[in-house]
Amino acid sequence: MTKYIDEAKAILAANDRGGYTVPTDRLYPFQWNWDSAFVAMGFAAYDIDRAYRELERLAEGQWTDGMIPHIVFHQPSDSYFPGPDVWRTNHVIPTSGITQPPVFAMALRKIYETAVATGSVENKRTLTLYEAALKWHRWWYSARDPEGTGLVALLHPWESGSDNSPAWDVALARVATTTETPVVRKDIGHVNPQMRPRDEDYGRFIHLLDTYAACGWDPVEQWQQAEFKIADIQTSAILLKAGEDLHYLAAVLGRAGEADEIAVLNERTRQALKAQWRSHLSRFVSRDLLAGEDVVAATQAGFIPLLALDLDEATADAAAAEMRRWCKGMKVVFPTTEPLSASFEAKRYWRGPAWAIINWLLIEGLHRNGHAGFAAELRQSTISAIETEGFAEYFDPKTGEGCGGLGFSWTAAAYIALEKADSSAIQ
Ligand code: GLC
Repeated sequence: MTKYIDEAKAILAANDRGGYTVPTDRLYPFQWNWDSAFVAMGFAAYDIDRAYRELERLAEGQWTDGMIPHIVFHQPSDSYFPGPDVWRTNHVIPTSGITQPPVFAMALRKIYETAVATGSVENKRTLTLYEAALKWHRWWYSARDPEGTGLVALLHPWESGSDNSPAWDVALARVATTTETPVVRKDIGHVNPQMRPRDEDYGRFIHLLDTYAACGWDPVEQWQQAEFKIADIQTSAILLKAGEDLHYLAAVLGRAGEADEIAVLNERTRQALKAQWRSHLSRFVSRDLLAGEDVVAATQAGFIPLLALDLDEATADAAAAEMRRWCKGMKVVFPTTEPLSASFEAKRYWRGPAWAIINWLLIEGLHRNGHAGFAAELRQSTISAIETEGFAEYFDPKTGEGCGGLGFSWTAAAYIALEKADSSAIQ
């Protein structure tokens, strides 16, 4: 509805800090990687120039080795911990030292296609951003899959974007809670501590950060020292979907050699992801590389591969049926943890709540795999939750209550994208 679209646009305008968008004021006062990619897709619906700009400002933080960090600290702020002094990455524009899901190339294709359709494409800008994305995808494969398995690994839970997901509980329990850096949490001064990760998890998050800082942020050294190493299906699926989009862009930009290179990487990831399907669970699973075990915790990540795979009908139906089972009795879907599992907490961040951007990915995945009706329901649930509760960071799936930070950028972007798309053609 126009009223809410206007509100969503007003949130993006209010969170603009000069060509980039903060996730929300105070709680997250810098540029976050995958937030900005989703935001760029929101902008693509009404302001192509601003959409390009969002990605360009994110690419300013790119490291020489290709990594695009999870936070770019364009301007100082004292309302967030850990800041640049803790990360110690020594970059000209201060950044964090870890990364986040590579939604970037998905956004770039969206911008490019919309720009072509409206006659506003800018070749030079597209090419520069394409090159940044390609460099980043190469980094993922060399730094985070040195053995060439096809799945990329996370060395820190924050890299998943699902910070305190039950998926990390077993692996994270092996990490010490002791830190070299004093932990001075600022998040719980902004929002209810009951909704945030627990203190012991924060100790572990910072312990890992200290370990990698001591490696001088060298990817090879970090790979050897890592006390947390998960070949993650959510990130790998996003990398593959973004890889498909990168392949498309390489072709339209006349980069045939690079298109071939990307196709080979995509195919390896496609096969590796398919192999993570577990029929007895009716979902995909990540792999804990240090323990040599599947990550069996029931989280939304198990269905994200639908975004990037064309499953056979029986597999797609089994995944959709399992997803429906999780939705039973929920006021707002999709819960990020299976509601009947012991780890489910309706209000605590990534341990149950519904997130608009996760729904956006799942909606696309359901469409791709022949479940347009279910996709439409998920879309409607997301739109209604936002219209009822506002542009909250996330939603309690049992009560529908909006939680966490308010005036949230990616919720606004998701609303714009989902509202604009008719239910048969989400993209
Ligand atoms: C939290 C979320 C992460 C997000 C960031 C900024 O850390 O877990 O996914 O990117 O906040 O919104």
